[in-house]
Amino acid sequence: MNQTRNGDRPSALVTGGAGLIGSHLSDLLLAEGWRVRILDNLEPQTHGGGRPTWVPEAADFVVADVCDREALLQALQGVDTVFHQAAYGGYAGDGEVHLHEQLRYRATAGVDPR
Ligand SMILES: NC(=O)c1ccc[n+]([C@@H]2O[C@H](COP(=O)([O-])OP(=O)(O)OC[C@H]3O[C@@H](n4cnc5c(N)ncnc54)[C@H](O)[C@@H]3O)[C@@H](O)[C@H]2O)c1
Repeated sequence: MNQTRNGDRPSALVTGGAGLIGSHLSDLLLAEGWRVRILDNLEPQTHGGGRPTWVPEAADFVVADVCDREALLQALQGVDTVFHQAAYGGYAGDGEVHLHEQLRYRATAGVDPR
């Protein structure tokens, strides 16, 4: 897909776009002609030194938590497709499953998919 029905370039929101999968996905989408917005909270456990150099310059980069509903709704403006790659990296002990579930469900709760 490199064109929407009305002829525009398609746009994507990549959550976790500063991470391993999200940044490669963003590179691919940009190369395919998509407009890309990344939303990533630069999780300190994953990114000790701030914005990593591999985040593509051509992407619109928003530093925010996917669980921040207002920030997420704002980042969804004008977006055709969401690639949800935000994930808590590392081991969080007994709370790990809880953290993953929280990130997956809280991020999308109440957001109208239309
Ligand atoms: N890396 C792999 O080999 C692999 C293989 C199969 C599946 N996956 C899956 O792909 C997804 C991404 O994995 P990855 O390897 O790119 O992880 P990663 O840790 O490299 O990237 C995750 C990104 O999400 C961001 N993030 C974390 N919490 C956030 C939050 N609350 N709000 C916004 N951003 C947040 C982090 O800052 C990071 O940039 C995960 O669901 C993982 O299970 C990864």
